[in-house]
Amino acid sequence: MSNPSEAELIHIFKGIAFTTRSSPELLKSLDTFDAREDDVLLVSYPKSGTHWLAGVITKLYNTQVTLTSPIEFGDISKLEELNKLSSKRIIPTHLDYNMLPPNFKNKKCKMIYISRNPKDTAVSMYHYYRDNPNLPTIDTWTAFFDLFLKGDVVCGSWFDHFLSWEEHENDKNILFLFYEDMKKDLPKIVKEISFFLGLKISDNVIQDICKKSSFSEMKSDTEKENSDPSHTVCALTSNRKLIFRKGAVGDWKNHFTPKQNQRFEEIFNEKMKLSKM
Ligand code: A3P
Repeated sequence: MSNPSEAELIHIFKGIAFTTRSSPELLKSLDTFDAREDDVLLVSYPKSGTHWLAGVITKLYNTQVTLTSPIEFGDISKLEELNKLSSKRIIPTHLDYNMLPPNFKNKKCKMIYISRNPKDTAVSMYHYYRDNPNLPTIDTWTAFFDLFLKGDVVCGSWFDHFLSWEEHENDKNILFLFYEDMKKDLPKIVKEISFFLGLKISDNVIQDICKKSSFSEMKSDTEKENSDPSHTVCALTSNRKLIFRKGAVGDWKNHFTPKQNQRFEEIFNEKMKLSKM
């Protein structure tokens, strides 16, 4: 069987590329979504550490919570499915701020945005494109590098995504986190998250959560199928086994040529000139 064509895998909605696993009807209906005050949104550009953060957050609750698939993943029946859940919902999304269902904003739902060095994000996404049958075929790193910088990839431009959320970094209901900070001092970040969510967690429990959320533990859990391998918090695949690749900071150095690095820096400085990053 030949590979599916790009048109079978990707469609454009409001100028942003989505996989066909996010149906246009669902995307159109998101504006009508009925949020609940106690929903928690887990927001990221793909490959920023979404599964890691989801793993931590679900372990923090000792009451019943449901980690759903991303709100933009599926067909029109998705919203009804989410409506039917009776427990507290933790809802992942890769949507940029402007596309978020307005009800989440009006109800001031808690949202956690995780970001990662865009160079490492680009490298992680390159490997994901290569391994993931739901994404178009990419021949070389050089070709992907150009697409990433142009924002010609699923979920659009990293820069636009980050900036749309950064504009709201002082909103009290939004917590900003960085992958690199989690790598540096996970217990500190887990404490920050639990404080933000209004949960009282002892230091012992925090240590235990950090242990269970290490890259090696999470990867081997998925391989042993202790966690559902057909359930991800990424709208681009439902195969969890594609997620845990290297889990490192600075892998971009193994991929970027000095010239690519220079070009990336120039575009970064230009696009992010109003950013505090
Ligand atoms: P790499 O491809 O660089 O290894 P997302 O969950 O948003 O899809 O992000 C996936 C990236 O987060 C992958 O990066 C993956 O390895 C990394 N990751 C997942 N779990 C992790 C963990 N527990 N610790 C560190 N990195 C993790």
